[in-house]
Amino acid sequence: MVLMESERMASFPLRFGTESQFATVRQFLLDAGFTAAGVAERLEIPSIFHFKFVDGGRIAAADVRNARDALIRLFVEAEPIDARLVERHIPAPAFRELVDLGLLSREPGDREVRATVALAPADPARLDDGLWLDRDWRQPIHVVYDVPVSSSVPEQEIPSDLVFAGIGSNTGVYLATLPRSRCGRFLEACGGTGVAALMASSLADEAVTADIAERATRFAEFNVRLNGTRNVRVVQGDLYEPVSDRGFDRIAAHPPYVPSRGIRNLYADGGDDGEFIIRRILGELHTVLNPGGVLYLNCATSDRETGQVEDRLRAMLGPATGEFDLLVLDRLDMEPIEFFARAAERGFIPLDTIGSRFGFLKEFRVQRMVYATIVVRRLASPRPVWTIRRNSKGRLDPAAIEWLLDVEDRVRRPSALAQLLDRRALVAEESALCVWSQPDGPGWTTVGCTVNAEWPFSAEVNCPPWTADFLRRCDGARTVRDAFSDLVRAGRIGEDAGDAFLQGVGTLMSAGVLALEGAAPPPLPPVIPNRAAWRGGVP
Ligand SMILES: C[S@@+](CC[C@H](N)C(=O)[O-])C[C@H]1O[C@@H](n2cnc3c(N)ncnc32)[C@H](O)[C@@H]1O
Repeated sequence: MVLMESERMASFPLRFGTESQFATVRQFLLDAGFTAAGVAERLEIPSIFHFKFVDGGRIAAADVRNARDALIRLFVEAEPIDARLVERHIPAPAFRELVDLGLLSREPGDREVRATVALAPADPARLDDGLWLDRDWRQPIHVVYDVPVSSSVPEQEIPSDLVFAGIGSNTGVYLATLPRSRCGRFLEACGGTGVAALMASSLADEAVTADIAERATRFAEFNVRLNGTRNVRVVQGDLYEPVSDRGFDRIAAHPPYVPSRGIRNLYADGGDDGEFIIRRILGELHTVLNPGGVLYLNCATSDRETGQVEDRLRAMLGPATGEFDLLVLDRLDMEPIEFFARAAERGFIPLDTIGSRFGFLKEFRVQRMVYATIVVRRLASPRPVWTIRRNSKGRLDPAAIEWLLDVEDRVRRPSALAQLLDRRALVAEESALCVWSQPDGPGWTTVGCTVNAEWPFSAEVNCPPWTADFLRRCDGARTVRDAFSDLVRAGRIGEDAGDAFLQGVGTLMSAGVLALEGAAPPPLPPVIPNRAAWRGGVP
C-alpha cells in the first residue's frame, strides 16, 4: 500500500521552531564534536559515509561516554538511551530545544529518550581509501533524514516517501564529486534532504533544492533552518517543474535509478530499466541549464547489447544534443544480479524483490550495470561537442573533473593547443609506455606506442612512433616546442608534421600522461594515515 501524502505527513515529527532554537542546537552539535570527522573518529571509520548499523555489519554500538557519543547513539545509530545518560551528557538548554524542535522525544514515565528522525553531520571528510577523495571542504553541515529500513522489511511496508539518508556511501560519492569553485545559481534536482544544496550554499549566489515528495521537502526545509543557511530555497514538484525561474549554472542530481516495476519507493525506483528519471534529467536539461553551465549526475546506468552508456546518454539529450559535451566517469561496473544484491545489502531495495527485478531487466539486454558520475556541460558558444568515457578506478577528485573539462576544451581547438607550445612539459609519474618495434635489417624500427595513465583517470591510448622519443624529452625543463625541434633535428619527425604533432600532444594531455605548465592534472593525493586503523571494508 502506498501511503497517501496526508497520512504520511501526519507522522512528520519535526517542528519549525525559532531561529534562536535552531542556533542553540547547531552550536551544541558543534561544541559536542558531532562533526563528520568527530563521528568517523569515534566509530573508527574513514568517514561518516562508511557508517553501518549494528545489524548492517557493525559489531557493537559505541559506548556513551560524552555528548558526542550520546548524539551518535541517538541520531546516527538510531537507538534510544537511558534518560540519566542524556541528563549527564546533554546540557538542559540544548535538550529542551532538541525536544521542542521534535528531534528527541521522551514519553511521560518513559526511562528512555529516543530520536524521532536520524540526524548526522554530512560534510564530506577527506578520504583516500581508493573510493573517493575530497578536497578543501570545511563547512560543517548537519542533515535530518528518516532512519533507513532494513532490506528484510517487505516492500509494501516501506513508506513510499521515506527520506533518503544524506550520509549513504552513494551520497558521499555524489557530494565528493561536486566542484569546489564558486558558481551563480545552483540547483539540486531530486534533492531529498537537500544535502548538496546545503553544501553548495557557501559557493553559490543562490541554491535551490527540489523534490517530488512533500515529506522530503519538509525535511530539507528543516535542514536549511538547522544549518542557519540563508540562500537555499526548497521547492516541491516533479523534477524541474517547480523551478519556475529557470537558468542554473550548476545542477547536481542523485536520482532514483534501481530498476523497478512501476515506481513505488520514490528514492530508489527508476522504472523498468532504472533510467526513467535519468532520461528526463538529460532530455529536459536544455530548459534549465545556462550556457556554460554543468550538470553533475551521480547514478547507475548500463552498457547494453543495444548500446554503450555514453551513446545511450548522448541520445537522451534529445534534439539539443549538439549543445552539450558529455563525460562519463565509470566508478564501478558489475553484473545486474550483483547490482541488485548490493542494493539490497545497503537497504535500498527489499531482498525479496531481487528475483523479479532481475527477471524484467533481462528484456533490456543489459550487459553490465555501471555506477558512474556523468558530467554534462552546455556550450557557452557554438562549436563541435565531444563525448568521452573514462574509468576513474574508484578514485574521484572534483579537481580532476574540472581539469579534464578544461583540457578537453583546449586540445580540441588547434589555436588553443598552439598557445601551449611554449610551456614546459613533464611526463606524469603514474604513466607507462609500451613501444612496439619490428625487426628492420640489422636493427629494430619503432612502429607504434601505447601509453597508459592511472591518474587522474585510467586511460590507454595508441600513439604514433615518435611518442616515445618525445616523452623522453619531456623532462620539465624543455618546452613542447623545444622537444619538437629536437625530434626534427634527430630525424624522428618531419618538419611539416606540426598539425599531427599538436594533435598527438593533445591526446597525451587529455590522457593525463603529459603535464604542461599551467594545465597539469591535479596532484595525486596522499594516502590517509588512519586507513590501516579502519576495520570496516569498502562499502
Ligand atoms: C536517491 S534519493 C537522493 C536524495 C539526495 N539528493 C541524496 O543524495 O541524499 C532520490 C530523491 O529523488 C526524489 N525523486 C524521485 N522522483 C522524483 C521526481 N520525479 N522529481 C523530483 N524528485 C524525485 C526522491 O523523493 C528522493 O528524495
